[in-house]
Amino acid sequence: MSATDTTSGSSSGRPRKGDELDLEIETLVYGGRGLARLDGYVVFVDGALPGDRVRAVVSKSKKGYAEATTTETLGRSDERLEDVDIHDGEPCPGAPWQALDYERQLAFKQEQVEDAMARLGRLEDFDLEPMVRAVEPWRYRNKVEYSFGEHGDEAVIGFRPRGRWDEVLAIEDCLLSSEATNRARDEVLEWVRAEGLPAWDPRTGEGVLRNLVIREGRRTGQIQTRLVTSPAAFPKPPVDLHTVIEGPGSGTSGPTGVIGEEFLHEKIFDLDIRLSHEAFFQTNTEMAEELYGVAREFAGLTGSERVFDLFCGAGTIGLTMASEAREVWGLEIVADAVVNAEHNARANGVTNARFVEGNARTGIRPLVERAGQPDVAVVDPPRAGLSAKIVRRLIECQAKRIVYISCNPTTLAPNAAQLVEAGYRLDRVRPVDMFPQTPHIECVAQFDLVRPQAPGERQETE
Ligand SMILES: C[S@@+](CC[C@H](N)C(=O)[O-])C[C@H]1O[C@@H](n2cnc3c(N)ncnc32)[C@H](O)[C@@H]1O
Repeated sequence: MSATDTTSGSSSGRPRKGDELDLEIETLVYGGRGLARLDGYVVFVDGALPGDRVRAVVSKSKKGYAEATTTETLGRSDERLEDVDIHDGEPCPGAPWQALDYERQLAFKQEQVEDAMARLGRLEDFDLEPMVRAVEPWRYRNKVEYSFGEHGDEAVIGFRPRGRWDEVLAIEDCLLSSEATNRARDEVLEWVRAEGLPAWDPRTGEGVLRNLVIREGRRTGQIQTRLVTSPAAFPKPPVDLHTVIEGPGSGTSGPTGVIGEEFLHEKIFDLDIRLSHEAFFQTNTEMAEELYGVAREFAGLTGSERVFDLFCGAGTIGLTMASEAREVWGLEIVADAVVNAEHNARANGVTNARFVEGNARTGIRPLVERAGQPDVAVVDPPRAGLSAKIVRRLIECQAKRIVYISCNPTTLAPNAAQLVEAGYRLDRVRPVDMFPQTPHIECVAQFDLVRPQAPGERQETE
């Protein structure tokens, strides 16, 4: 037995919410939590690594498993590296796996992809290729979202520790972002302190300063700063963009005024890319090229294909494929991103790519009517993956090949199972490590149509 219930004295049975448990962490599961067992009953534990012995408080108790948060480390795993990114005695919230050797991080991620595909998709008969290693395990982020807080009377800037929405851990040097980003952050903090502006307090809804979002053009050297505040009167801040948000909530999207440079400029391969602050961009520029390289390889284009780039953001994937395709059609829900994609095509002399604003749920059928059936469909959805309905719309396209870029293997797996059920074969999956020091997993999957739908097989009409 590897665990004890220190609250009730019982060493078996299901723990209750609030119980304190002493646990030994066996392994890591998707999302980065540790897995421990109480006489076979599974407990997922936040803030622990394999080999750690921890005291943890149960936050949720279900029939099949419980969730708990570490309150004390009783014994440190032999595997733990000396922590490198520590602030006020706590590991940087953005780098929860920093104490794990990089090779172990890769092995856990690889294992989690295999496990998700088998357990959630019942898919084992495909080639799981080795994970593409990160070019740079530290200082790779091109976007950092800081929160403001107050320590005493002084404004501080940092991150909210996981599960502590009302606290801010002050950060002086975030080791996942560049030193240039740190300098830009310090300049804004200096101004904020000189103006004596108070941080916004999510508990009371009072105060002004909410977030500072910094984006970096890694290839252009540009740093773009966006200050997010509640409505208030104060002198013009030394930032590029100023977003004003009313009411509760921790989001950073809202009406935004332009003070300095409106767009972020970046280079991907030989393409000059312009991005609005609302447009998604992969947070690791160097690894975005690796990811897009894998997507291009899996697409296997010969110059004659019609390619759909669904969930296209600012068009970066489609544009990197356009020179190898007959034509590219992008579909994206954020209007500004579509405007960026069209601009990026024109600015780079790409004449065979079109971008359309729309929701994938309702926009795929009209796109097929307008453009015709795709030969290759690339999908790159957010973490929630594709709804069953969007997968049905994708199947209707009957693309000979689908390249699925996923930032969540637990949603890729059921989507993949639905595609396989409908006549696609999952050929291979190659994970790409976009987010070292974190549990996040990105992977690219290739599907080929082996059993095309017979005419009339499509039944859904709405
Ligand atoms: C993971 S990002 C990928 C963007 C782009 N492929 C890239 O590599 O930069 C997902 C994109 O899907 C868009 N999106 C989210 N839900 C959508 C929907 N229902 N229909 C169309 N696009 C959607 C988001 O705005 C975002 O740009």
